[in-house]
Amino acid sequence: MNIEIFQTEEQLDRRAAEIIAEVVKTEDHPTLGLATGGTPVGTYKALIELHQQQKFTFKHVRTANLDEYVGLPKDHEQSYYYYMNEHLFKHIDLPLDQAHIPDGTASDLDAECRRYDDILASFGRIDVQILGIGHNGHIGFNEPADALQAGTHCVQLTDDTIQANARFFSSIDEVPKQAITVGVGPILKSKKILLLAKGESKADILHQALKGPITTQCPASLLQTHPNLYVLADEAAGRKLK
Ligand code: PGA
Repeated sequence: MNIEIFQTEEQLDRRAAEIIAEVVKTEDHPTLGLATGGTPVGTYKALIELHQQQKFTFKHVRTANLDEYVGLPKDHEQSYYYYMNEHLFKHIDLPLDQAHIPDGTASDLDAECRRYDDILASFGRIDVQILGIGHNGHIGFNEPADALQAGTHCVQLTDDTIQANARFFSSIDEVPKQAITVGVGPILKSKKILLLAKGESKADILHQALKGPITTQCPASLLQTHPNLYVLADEAAGRKLK
């Protein structure tokens, strides 16, 4: 496990963007596993800047996002489709038919999960998987549980997650209660994982995930088993790792 701690968020974002850009520039058919939430916004901004400065292309890249809320259409400002478009896709030359996000409005959600697993299977392995960490240790929307699922599935969001995400909605009642998430299988199979953490509120869970017992009650703790894990944290989130 490689742990890197940065004095500023900008330094962290730049480093994360450089790792992603390296994969995009050197792999013949790069596959990126993308995350949403507050944490990676700056990383995408830094990646766009590198794309503009260094003039490398995303035309040959395929991406798969980790999750999407059930019930939010693509044009909803809090859908992850909307987020990805705003924060990354519309600023780069990635063909949108190569960018995959689960469809939270599918009438048959189980069929949508199977469709998404087929897409991930067609990728082989993800070259670099970006992850944030929830305050409860979730990765994607794989919430703490007695057992975790390997494949894409529908999940009931925990109260912790609903509360944490309420900041993006005008009221907590508007936060969807369900989501589709990639399971832990493709995440752990990725060639490289970039776990990003920012802010004091992540210090305890980051420490627990990386230094505590490996348990499904803290899904991020499974990352300890990954042979190529890069943890990028700012001073506040990485405080207990020093
Ligand atoms: P955040 O979410 O980046 O908004 O803190 C992280 C997560 O829930 O995985």
